Amino acid sequence: MRVSLAIMFTSRAISHLPSTSLRASNCAITKVPVFHRKASTMKALVYNGIGKLALEDRPKPSIQKPTDAVIKLNHTTICGTDLHILKGDAPEVQPGTILGHEGVGTIAETGSGISNFKPGDQVLISCISACGSCESCRKGMLSHCNNGGGWVLGHTIDGTQAEFVRIPLADNSLYKIPEGVDPKTLVMLSDIFPTGFECGVLNGKVQPGGTVAIVGAGPIGLAALLTAQFYSPSWVLVIDPDHNRLKVAHQFGAQHFCEPNQAVEYVKKLTDGKGCDTVIEAVGIPATFEQCQDLVGPGGIIANIGVHGVKADFHLEKLWAANIGAFVISTFDSNPDTDVLQPSQPDL
Ligand SMILES: NC(=O)c1ccc[n+]([C@@H]2O[C@H](COP(=O)([O-])OP(=O)(O)OC[C@H]3O[C@@H](n4cnc5c(N)ncnc54)[C@H](O)[C@@H]3O)[C@@H](O)[C@H]2O)c1
Ligand SMILES: [Zn+2]
Ligand SMILES: [Zn+2]
Repeated sequence: MRVSLAIMFTSRAISHLPSTSLRASNCAITKVPVFHRKASTMKALVYNGIGKLALEDRPKPSIQKPTDAVIKLNHTTICGTDLHILKGDAPEVQPGTILGHEGVGTIAETGSGISNFKPGDQVLISCISACGSCESCRKGMLSHCNNGGGWVLGHTIDGTQAEFVRIPLADNSLYKIPEGVDPKTLVMLSDIFPTGFECGVLNGKVQPGGTVAIVGAGPIGLAALLTAQFYSPSWVLVIDPDHNRLKVAHQFGAQHFCEPNQAVEYVKKLTDGKGCDTVIEAVGIPATFEQCQDLVGPGGIIANIGVHGVKADFHLEKLWAANIGAFVISTFDSNPDTDVLQPSQPDL
């Protein structure tokens, strides 16, 4: 029954997808261009308030603390979170902040307290800066580092969408790029891949034989889709209004895909009305958060990855009786135990 449904839905979905060229994500990895100007300034992409973005000349960053390093960016990218900032969903971001929390580059300068890196090293920048030794870091919650770390880049301090960036707590916030690896591919490991894996797949406890719905097929949803397959779920359904992204999801291994308005019926049919074991929210708007609650089955888990700028309802009045296993919400912690972050495993 499930198999025949799967074939029916998959082929129907493919047949109505437009044949436009594929767009893997809005996170096209960008080579940071070389500009010619005074040595003391650089080009940077600056958030100037809601909906306002400008490429500006800014002073090059310098070492402020012995634990800092300054990196010359070689490649960077855009995260859905940058789009939330532009929409005004992160009001704590001050106008004038350089955006970006992802990238690979070359160490330009190190503070006197840095022992793991030297100028010239090629490094991957983690979106989370962390000291590695405070109480939160020792609990594995690097995003709550008590020594000035956490998600600071492109948030509370200037970020990576620039020619140079200052990385605080650099000894524990950078990863050396091994010889022979294309550095461009590692940009996905700054945030997108480990976030999809950690906040989506691990928090969502994807199991062999389990059923998984992923709401949102941006880079984060697609990363969750790829890494969910490590655990051999019986199928993954990806939901997105963008047909190009659904096509990519299909290429990346999703057995099922549909538009948001079809999702509840689709899941009912696939699960004989029960709902999914794991539902991963990868958009960050109230409508998708609420839809996750309609897709989860008894004992299931909703793993929320999306950054939310406004309140979203959690329908305990419906869910209390469903024995919903858990609702997990987290920011990416870049836990060093997370193998997927290790550049020595670039094939992930
Ligand atoms: N928790 C964390 O640490 C963390 C880290 C990185 C990103 N994020 C968040 O993850 C989310 C996804 O990031 P991204 O880079 O993939 O963003 P993105 O903007 O590239 O992708 C979002 C996708 O959602 C789709 N979408 C819009 N409305 C939808 C709907 N009603 N139903 C289903 N899909 C819908 C869009 O078409 C798009 O493909 C964002 O909210 C981002 O801020 C969180
Ligand atoms: Zn991000
Ligand atoms: Zn810390």
